[in-house]
Amino acid sequence: MRFLYVMDPMERVLPDKDTTFAFQRAAQRRGHVALHCDARDLFIRDSLVGARCRGLGLLEGAPHFAFEAPTDILLRDVDAVFIRKDPPFNPGYLHATLMLEHARDQTFIFNDPKGLRTANEKLYTLQFSQHMPRTIVSSHKDQILDFVSASGGAAVIKPLDGAGGSGVLKLSTGDKNARAIIDIITAEGAQQAMVQEYLPAVVKGDKRILLLDGEIIGAINRVARADDLRSNIHVGGSVEPCDVTEKEREMVRSMAPRLRADGLMFVGLDMIDGRLTEINVTSPTGIQELSQHVGRDVADDVISWVERHCIKTATQPRS
Ligand SMILES: Nc1ncnc2c1ncn2[C@@H]1O[C@H](COP(=O)(O)OP(=O)(O)O)[C@@H](O)[C@H]1O
Ligand SMILES: [Mg+2]
Repeated sequence: MRFLYVMDPMERVLPDKDTTFAFQRAAQRRGHVALHCDARDLFIRDSLVGARCRGLGLLEGAPHFAFEAPTDILLRDVDAVFIRKDPPFNPGYLHATLMLEHARDQTFIFNDPKGLRTANEKLYTLQFSQHMPRTIVSSHKDQILDFVSASGGAAVIKPLDGAGGSGVLKLSTGDKNARAIIDIITAEGAQQAMVQEYLPAVVKGDKRILLLDGEIIGAINRVARADDLRSNIHVGGSVEPCDVTEKEREMVRSMAPRLRADGLMFVGLDMIDGRLTEINVTSPTGIQELSQHVGRDVADDVISWVERHCIKTATQPRS
Protein backbone atom coordinates (compact mmCIF):
# COMPACT_ATOMS: atom_id res chain seq x y z
CA MET A 1 0.00 0.00 0.00
CA ARG A 2 0.98 3.64 -0.41
CA PHE A 3 0.68 5.85 2.67
CA LEU A 4 1.06 9.64 2.62
CA TYR A 5 2.17 11.33 5.84
CA VAL A 6 1.20 15.02 6.08
CA MET A 7 3.42 16.22 8.88
CA ASP A 8 6.28 18.41 10.06
CA PRO A 9 9.77 18.04 8.58
CA MET A 10 11.38 14.61 9.08
CA GLU A 11 14.50 16.33 10.46
CA ARG A 12 12.48 17.28 13.55
CA VAL A 13 11.34 13.72 14.26
CA LEU A 14 12.86 11.95 17.26
CA PRO A 15 13.22 8.30 16.16
CA ASP A 16 12.92 6.85 19.67
CA LYS A 17 10.08 9.13 20.85
CA ASP A 18 7.85 10.07 17.97
CA THR A 19 4.58 8.22 17.43
CA THR A 20 4.56 9.12 13.73
CA PHE A 21 8.00 7.54 13.35
CA ALA A 22 6.65 4.41 15.06
CA PHE A 23 3.77 4.31 12.55
CA GLN A 24 6.21 4.74 9.66
CA ARG A 25 8.54 2.07 11.00
CA ALA A 26 5.71 -0.45 11.47
CA ALA A 27 4.33 0.35 8.00
CA GLN A 28 7.75 -0.02 6.37
CA ARG A 29 8.23 -3.36 8.12
CA ARG A 30 4.85 -4.46 6.74
CA GLY A 31 6.01 -3.58 3.22
CA HIS A 32 4.14 -0.32 2.59
CA VAL A 33 5.46 2.63 0.59
CA ALA A 34 5.86 5.92 2.53
CA LEU A 35 5.41 9.38 1.05
CA HIS A 36 6.05 12.55 3.05
CA CYS A 37 4.80 16.11 2.65
CA ASP A 38 4.13 19.22 4.70
CA ALA A 39 0.63 20.72 4.92
CA ARG A 40 1.73 23.51 2.55
CA ASP A 41 2.56 20.90 -0.12
CA LEU A 42 -1.10 19.95 -0.66
CA PHE A 43 -2.59 21.32 -3.88
CA ILE A 44 -5.87 21.18 -5.81
CA ARG A 45 -5.74 21.00 -9.60
CA ASP A 46 -8.67 20.17 -11.88
CA SER A 47 -10.71 19.65 -8.67
CA LEU A 48 -8.40 16.86 -7.54
CA VAL A 49 -6.36 17.04 -4.36
CA GLY A 50 -2.70 16.26 -4.72
CA ALA A 51 0.54 16.58 -2.83
CA ARG A 52 4.06 17.50 -3.78
CA CYS A 53 5.74 14.78 -1.77
CA ARG A 54 8.87 12.71 -1.48
CA GLY A 55 9.31 8.98 -1.14
CA LEU A 56 10.59 8.23 2.35
CA GLY A 57 12.75 5.39 3.59
CA LEU A 58 13.54 4.93 7.28
CA LEU A 59 17.09 4.03 8.22
CA GLU A 60 18.66 2.52 11.31
CA GLY A 61 20.93 5.01 13.07
CA ALA A 62 21.68 8.53 11.89
CA PRO A 63 20.37 9.99 9.70
CA HIS A 64 17.10 8.23 10.49
CA PHE A 65 15.60 8.67 7.01
CA ALA A 66 16.35 9.24 3.33
CA PHE A 67 14.19 11.03 0.78
CA GLU A 68 13.67 10.42 -2.89
CA ALA A 69 13.24 13.32 -5.35
CA PRO A 70 10.00 15.37 -5.02
CA THR A 71 7.07 14.22 -7.11
CA ASP A 72 3.45 15.34 -7.57
CA ILE A 73 0.82 12.73 -6.80
CA LEU A 74 -2.98 12.66 -6.47
CA LEU A 75 -4.46 11.60 -3.18
CA ARG A 76 -6.84 9.23 -4.93
CA ASP A 77 -3.73 7.22 -5.84
CA VAL A 78 -2.68 6.58 -2.24
CA ASP A 79 -4.33 4.09 0.09
CA ALA A 80 -4.21 6.20 3.25
CA VAL A 81 -3.32 9.72 4.38
CA PHE A 82 -1.98 10.14 7.91
CA ILE A 83 -2.42 13.70 9.15
CA ARG A 84 0.24 13.96 11.80
CA LYS A 85 1.10 17.64 11.86
CA ASP A 86 1.77 18.98 15.32
CA PRO A 87 -0.34 21.83 16.70
CA PRO A 88 -0.80 24.81 16.61
CA PHE A 89 -4.08 24.70 14.80
CA ASN A 90 -3.32 27.80 12.69
CA PRO A 91 -4.82 29.05 9.39
CA GLY A 92 -2.41 26.80 7.42
CA TYR A 93 -3.65 23.75 9.31
CA LEU A 94 -7.29 24.78 8.88
CA HIS A 95 -6.83 25.21 5.12
CA ALA A 96 -5.14 21.81 4.87
CA THR A 97 -8.15 20.12 6.50
CA LEU A 98 -10.51 22.03 4.16
CA MET A 99 -8.49 20.95 1.12
CA LEU A 100 -8.54 17.34 2.30
CA GLU A 101 -12.36 17.48 2.30
CA HIS A 102 -12.10 17.29 -1.49
CA ALA A 103 -10.31 13.94 -1.24
CA ARG A 104 -12.99 12.44 1.01
CA ASP A 105 -14.14 9.08 -0.41
CA GLN A 106 -11.05 8.92 -2.63
CA THR A 107 -8.69 7.64 0.03
CA PHE A 108 -8.71 6.78 3.74
CA ILE A 109 -7.87 9.89 5.81
CA PHE A 110 -6.72 9.32 9.37
CA ASN A 111 -8.00 11.27 11.43
CA ASP A 112 -10.97 12.62 9.50
CA PRO A 113 -10.30 16.27 8.50
CA LYS A 114 -13.77 17.26 9.68
CA GLY A 115 -13.07 15.70 13.07
CA LEU A 116 -9.73 17.51 13.26
CA ARG A 117 -11.52 20.82 12.70
CA THR A 118 -14.28 20.00 15.17
CA ALA A 119 -11.96 18.90 17.93
CA ASN A 120 -9.20 21.50 17.88
CA GLU A 121 -7.87 21.81 20.49
CA LYS A 122 -9.16 22.25 24.03
CA LEU A 123 -12.82 23.15 23.51
CA TYR A 124 -14.00 19.76 22.18
CA THR A 125 -13.34 18.23 25.61
CA LEU A 126 -16.38 20.16 26.89
CA GLN A 127 -18.57 17.82 24.81
CA PHE A 128 -17.85 15.41 27.65
CA SER A 129 -18.04 17.93 30.50
CA GLN A 130 -19.65 15.38 32.84
CA HIS A 131 -16.23 13.69 33.02
CA MET A 132 -14.22 16.91 33.45
CA PRO A 133 -13.13 18.93 36.44
CA ARG A 134 -14.94 22.29 36.86
CA THR A 135 -14.00 24.41 33.86
CA ILE A 136 -14.63 27.92 32.57
CA VAL A 137 -13.76 29.42 29.18
CA SER A 138 -13.53 33.19 29.25
CA SER A 139 -11.52 36.25 28.26
CA HIS A 140 -12.81 38.28 31.22
CA LYS A 141 -10.47 38.64 34.15
CA ASP A 142 -13.19 39.09 36.77
CA GLN A 143 -14.95 35.88 35.67
CA ILE A 144 -11.67 33.97 35.78
CA LEU A 145 -10.66 35.31 39.19
CA ASP A 146 -14.12 34.53 40.62
CA PHE A 147 -13.80 31.00 39.21
CA VAL A 148 -10.40 30.54 40.88
CA SER A 149 -11.83 31.63 44.26
CA ALA A 150 -14.86 29.33 43.84
CA SER A 151 -12.48 26.44 43.04
CA GLY A 152 -10.83 26.57 46.44
CA GLY A 153 -8.29 29.21 45.45
CA ALA A 154 -6.33 27.19 42.87
CA ALA A 155 -6.84 26.62 39.13
CA VAL A 156 -4.93 25.97 35.93
CA ILE A 157 -5.14 28.32 32.94
CA LYS A 158 -4.50 27.02 29.39
CA PRO A 159 -4.45 28.67 25.98
CA LEU A 160 -7.23 27.24 23.77
CA ASP A 161 -4.82 26.23 21.01
CA GLY A 162 -1.85 25.07 23.10
CA ALA A 163 -0.18 21.69 23.28
CA GLY A 164 2.78 20.01 24.95
CA GLY A 165 2.22 21.99 28.16
CA SER A 166 2.89 25.29 26.42
CA GLY A 167 1.27 28.22 28.26
CA VAL A 168 -0.26 26.03 30.99
CA LEU A 169 0.10 27.90 34.29
CA LYS A 170 -1.25 27.66 37.83
CA LEU A 171 -3.48 30.46 39.11
CA SER A 172 -3.82 30.98 42.85
CA THR A 173 -6.04 33.41 44.73
CA GLY A 174 -3.83 36.03 46.33
CA ASP A 175 -0.89 35.43 43.97
CA LYS A 176 0.30 38.83 42.85
CA ASN A 177 1.13 37.37 39.44
CA ALA A 178 -2.39 36.01 38.85
CA ARG A 179 -3.76 39.08 37.07
CA ALA A 180 -0.68 39.35 34.88
CA ILE A 181 -0.87 35.64 34.00
CA ILE A 182 -4.49 36.09 32.87
CA ASP A 183 -3.44 39.13 30.81
CA ILE A 184 -0.71 37.13 29.07
CA ILE A 185 -2.81 34.03 28.29
CA THR A 186 -5.86 36.03 27.17
CA ALA A 187 -3.68 38.54 25.24
CA GLU A 188 -4.98 41.38 27.45
CA GLY A 189 -8.56 40.09 27.25
CA ALA A 190 -8.57 39.76 23.44
CA GLN A 191 -9.01 35.97 23.44
CA GLN A 192 -10.51 33.29 25.66
CA ALA A 193 -8.56 30.87 27.78
CA MET A 194 -9.65 27.65 29.46
CA VAL A 195 -9.42 27.69 33.24
CA GLN A 196 -9.82 24.48 35.20
CA GLU A 197 -10.09 23.59 38.84
CA TYR A 198 -6.61 22.55 40.03
CA LEU A 199 -6.48 18.80 40.67
CA PRO A 200 -3.89 18.21 43.43
CA ALA A 201 -3.59 14.53 42.40
CA VAL A 202 -1.70 15.74 39.32
CA VAL A 203 1.48 15.08 41.36
CA LYS A 204 0.74 11.35 40.91
CA GLY A 205 0.60 11.85 37.16
CA ASP A 206 -1.42 12.67 34.07
CA LYS A 207 -2.57 9.48 32.38
CA ARG A 208 -2.57 9.31 28.57
CA ILE A 209 -5.09 6.75 27.31
CA LEU A 210 -4.66 5.98 23.61
CA LEU A 211 -7.75 5.02 21.65
CA LEU A 212 -8.09 3.42 18.25
CA ASP A 213 -11.59 3.52 16.80
CA GLY A 214 -13.06 4.11 20.26
CA GLU A 215 -11.22 1.16 21.85
CA ILE A 216 -8.42 1.47 24.40
CA ILE A 217 -5.07 0.32 23.01
CA GLY A 218 -3.13 1.19 26.14
CA ALA A 219 -2.15 3.87 28.61
CA ILE A 220 0.93 5.50 30.08
CA ASN A 221 1.28 7.68 33.15
CA ARG A 222 3.30 10.88 32.87
CA VAL A 223 4.74 12.34 36.05
CA ALA A 224 5.95 15.93 36.16
CA ARG A 225 9.39 16.94 37.33
CA ALA A 226 9.33 17.97 40.98
CA ASP A 227 9.82 21.59 39.90
CA ASP A 228 7.04 21.75 37.25
CA LEU A 229 3.24 21.59 37.24
CA ARG A 230 3.14 20.09 33.75
CA SER A 231 3.47 16.36 33.17
CA ASN A 232 4.00 16.53 29.39
CA ILE A 233 6.90 14.41 28.11
CA HIS A 234 7.88 17.41 25.98
CA VAL A 235 8.72 19.48 29.09
CA GLY A 236 10.52 16.77 31.05
CA GLY A 237 7.72 14.58 32.43
CA SER A 238 8.81 10.98 33.03
CA VAL A 239 6.77 8.02 31.84
CA GLU A 240 5.70 4.98 33.82
CA PRO A 241 3.43 2.00 33.05
CA CYS A 242 -0.14 2.16 34.32
CA ASP A 243 -3.47 0.37 34.22
CA VAL A 244 -6.79 1.74 33.04
CA THR A 245 -9.38 1.69 35.83
CA GLU A 246 -12.92 0.36 35.35
CA LYS A 247 -14.24 3.91 35.86
CA GLU A 248 -11.99 5.15 33.03
CA ARG A 249 -13.09 2.26 30.79
CA GLU A 250 -16.71 3.18 31.42
CA MET A 251 -15.94 6.81 30.51
CA VAL A 252 -14.31 5.71 27.26
CA ARG A 253 -17.30 3.51 26.41
CA SER A 254 -19.62 6.49 26.85
CA MET A 255 -17.41 8.74 24.70
CA ALA A 256 -16.65 6.27 21.90
CA PRO A 257 -19.83 6.72 19.79
CA ARG A 258 -19.29 10.47 19.58
CA LEU A 259 -15.58 10.11 18.75
CA ARG A 260 -16.41 7.60 16.01
CA ALA A 261 -19.16 9.82 14.61
CA ASP A 262 -16.63 12.67 14.37
CA GLY A 263 -14.10 10.45 12.57
CA LEU A 264 -11.64 10.68 15.45
CA MET A 265 -9.97 7.29 15.27
CA PHE A 266 -6.55 7.82 16.83
CA VAL A 267 -7.11 9.85 19.99
CA GLY A 268 -5.18 10.54 23.21
CA LEU A 269 -7.24 11.24 26.31
CA ASP A 270 -5.56 13.01 29.23
CA MET A 271 -6.89 12.01 32.64
CA ILE A 272 -5.86 13.31 36.03
CA ASP A 273 -7.24 11.33 38.98
CA GLY A 274 -9.90 9.74 36.76
CA ARG A 275 -11.10 13.11 35.41
CA LEU A 276 -10.85 14.06 31.75
CA THR A 277 -8.75 17.19 31.26
CA GLU A 278 -8.00 17.11 27.54
CA ILE A 279 -8.67 15.23 24.27
CA ASN A 280 -5.76 15.17 21.81
CA VAL A 281 -6.56 14.47 18.17
CA THR A 282 -4.11 16.48 16.08
CA SER A 283 -1.03 14.37 16.56
CA PRO A 284 -1.36 12.35 19.77
CA THR A 285 1.78 10.69 21.02
CA GLY A 286 2.75 7.99 23.50
CA ILE A 287 2.95 4.87 21.29
CA GLN A 288 6.68 4.32 21.72
CA GLU A 289 6.56 4.59 25.52
CA LEU A 290 3.51 2.30 25.59
CA SER A 291 5.26 -0.24 23.34
CA GLN A 292 8.27 -0.31 25.68
CA HIS A 293 6.01 -1.04 28.64
CA VAL A 294 4.00 -3.80 27.01
CA GLY A 295 7.04 -5.33 25.26
CA ARG A 296 5.68 -5.25 21.71
CA ASP A 297 5.15 -2.66 18.99
CA VAL A 298 1.66 -1.24 19.43
CA ALA A 299 2.12 0.79 16.21
CA ASP A 300 1.77 -2.53 14.42
CA ASP A 301 -1.85 -2.81 15.65
CA VAL A 302 -2.58 0.69 14.36
CA ILE A 303 -1.12 0.01 10.90
CA SER A 304 -2.90 -3.32 10.64
CA TRP A 305 -6.19 -1.52 11.49
CA VAL A 306 -5.46 1.16 8.85
CA GLU A 307 -4.77 -1.57 6.26
CA ARG A 308 -8.21 -3.06 6.90
CA HIS A 309 -9.87 0.36 6.57
CA CYS A 310 -8.05 1.24 3.35
CA ILE A 311 -9.51 -1.86 1.81
CA LYS A 312 -12.97 -0.88 3.04
CA THR A 313 -12.65 2.63 1.56
CA ALA A 314 -11.37 1.23 -1.73
CA THR A 315 -14.39 -1.02 -2.13
CA GLN A 316 -16.89 1.80 -1.47
CA PRO A 317 -18.25 3.67 -4.50
CA ARG A 318 -16.10 6.74 -5.16
CA SER A 319 -17.69 10.12 -5.75
N1 LIG B 1 -6.94 20.66 35.98
C1 LIG B 1 -5.63 20.45 36.19
N2 LIG B 1 -5.13 20.32 37.46
C2 LIG B 1 -3.82 20.10 37.66
N3 LIG B 1 -2.90 20.03 36.69
C3 LIG B 1 -3.32 20.16 35.41
C4 LIG B 1 -4.70 20.37 35.09
N4 LIG B 1 -4.82 20.45 33.76
C5 LIG B 1 -3.59 20.29 33.24
N5 LIG B 1 -2.68 20.11 34.24
C6 LIG B 1 -1.23 19.89 34.07
O1 LIG B 1 -0.81 20.60 32.90
C7 LIG B 1 -0.34 19.70 31.88
C8 LIG B 1 -0.78 20.17 30.51
O2 LIG B 1 -2.19 20.32 30.46
P1 LIG B 1 -3.10 19.80 29.27
O3 LIG B 1 -4.49 20.26 29.56
O4 LIG B 1 -2.93 18.33 29.10
O5 LIG B 1 -2.57 20.64 28.02
P2 LIG B 1 -1.50 20.31 26.86
O6 LIG B 1 -2.27 20.35 25.60
O7 LIG B 1 -0.49 21.41 26.92
O8 LIG B 1 -0.94 18.94 27.15
C9 LIG B 1 -0.91 18.36 32.28
O9 LIG B 1 -0.06 17.31 31.83
C10 LIG B 1 -0.94 18.41 33.79
O10 LIG B 1 0.33 18.11 34.34
MG1 LIG C 1 -2.01 17.19 27.56
